[in-house]
Amino acid sequence: MASLSGFFRYIVPILVALYGIYYWQFVASRRYFTADVELKGKTVIVTGGNSGIGKETALDLARRGARVILACRNLQKAEDAAKDIRTRTGNSEVVVRHLDLGNLQSVRNFSSKIVESEERLDILINNAGVAKWQTDGVIATKDNFDFVFGINHLGHFLLTNLLLDLLKKSASSRVVTVSSLLHSNAPSVLNMTRADPDVASFLYPHLESYPVSKLANILFASELARREASSGVISTSLHPGVIYTPIWKTHMLVESRFKAAMYYVMSPIMWLMMIDEEAGAQTTIHCALDDSVANFSGSYFDNCQVAPPSALAQDDELARRLWEVSCEATGLDC
Ligand SMILES: NC(=O)c1ccc[n+]([C@@H]2O[C@H](COP(=O)([O-])OP(=O)(O)OC[C@H]3O[C@@H](n4cnc5c(N)ncnc54)[C@H](OP(=O)(O)O)[C@@H]3O)[C@@H](O)[C@H]2O)c1
Ligand SMILES: *[C@@H]1O[C@H](CO)[C@@H](O)[C@H](O)[C@H]1NC(C)=O
Ligand SMILES: *[C@@H]1O[C@H](CO)[C@@H](O)[C@H](O)[C@H]1NC(C)=O
Ligand SMILES: *[C@@H]1O[C@H](CO)[C@@H](O)[C@H](O)[C@H]1NC(C)=O
Repeated sequence: MASLSGFFRYIVPILVALYGIYYWQFVASRRYFTADVELKGKTVIVTGGNSGIGKETALDLARRGARVILACRNLQKAEDAAKDIRTRTGNSEVVVRHLDLGNLQSVRNFSSKIVESEERLDILINNAGVAKWQTDGVIATKDNFDFVFGINHLGHFLLTNLLLDLLKKSASSRVVTVSSLLHSNAPSVLNMTRADPDVASFLYPHLESYPVSKLANILFASELARREASSGVISTSLHPGVIYTPIWKTHMLVESRFKAAMYYVMSPIMWLMMIDEEAGAQTTIHCALDDSVANFSGSYFDNCQVAPPSALAQDDELARRLWEVSCEATGLDC
């Protein structure tokens, strides 16, 4: 009995205090984009705008009056999201277009339709992303690149390049690429030898990891900024925070040994530890809209502020080489 009351008298308050410190440090300190920016007459594309922080970003931009194009793989989910956003914002200019970033022909089809049908493109948000537990066992994209790297980096690389003329025509315009803090776990990004005989048929077999694709996102964004320094296209990348989105749900359901049981036990804990989707969209919105960002093209942001990414992510020569390799991989003439 004594130990039980000791538990309530000491341990519980200590746990509550620790959680309080954690909450204050990681949740309550999140910054929100509060400027009153109107987007009437502007056009925005959000890849993966049917779920998680992509949907939350699209919702915010639609509220400001933009024409919002949800570029999505799962059309049913996208139509549901578009309808929800239209209802909540009263903005009827929220539309869905099909885009599978894991299929370069789909990226080309999507881009040429946009170029044909849209007069302008003010903001491109490269938000879609998969983690390796979300691939349903698929290891390669349609074009035989690693699934995660192919979608997260190569698909967005080609997409941005094919939309670049439209972005330039609409300058000052912005490209915002959603990376992750996990980029710093990447050992390298140009380790693209065909060393593994089992996957010798893949062009770049050694890029399976999520961190590598997220490092590539940052290098891509900074190289784009350098190349477009005088064209009025501003490019940034960011870490959105650790957010309770479907990415984590699938992690527990697919990756964990305890599957569903794990999900029910961990969900409330993750909910307490992670920020919500609205908070998770703020840095993307900041990069897309804040005036001050125009002076920080090429930078990486965290919690609505410029932050230093890993040393590799600041390697300009690596960024230049990745650009060349990505051109070759996607068949771009550059
Ligand atoms: N949640 C976090 O804690 C966290 C932390 C750091 C970075 N991020 C990054 O934030 C971004 C958004 O993730 P989220 O957390 O919001 O997860 P999410 O809800 O799972 O959203 C991922 C989105 O990517 C789309 N997508 C996946 N593969 C695609 C493909 N081949 N073609 C087109 N779209 C595709 C998904 O569409 P479908 O519905 O069709 O699959 C979905 O809309 C990702 O880039 C992720 O890496 C998230
Ligand atoms: C791309 O468009 C062509 C022509 O409309 C079509 O035949 C093809 O199936 C499309 N491919 C993809 C992957 O969307
Ligand atoms: C490539 O990866 C291998 C093993 O993963 C590692 O030993 C090697 O140092 C890497 N090379 C470069 C250039 O990063
Ligand atoms: C950007 O930098 C210029 C030159 O340093 C400065 O005059 C301007 O006020 C800055 N713009 C914003 C929005 O911070």
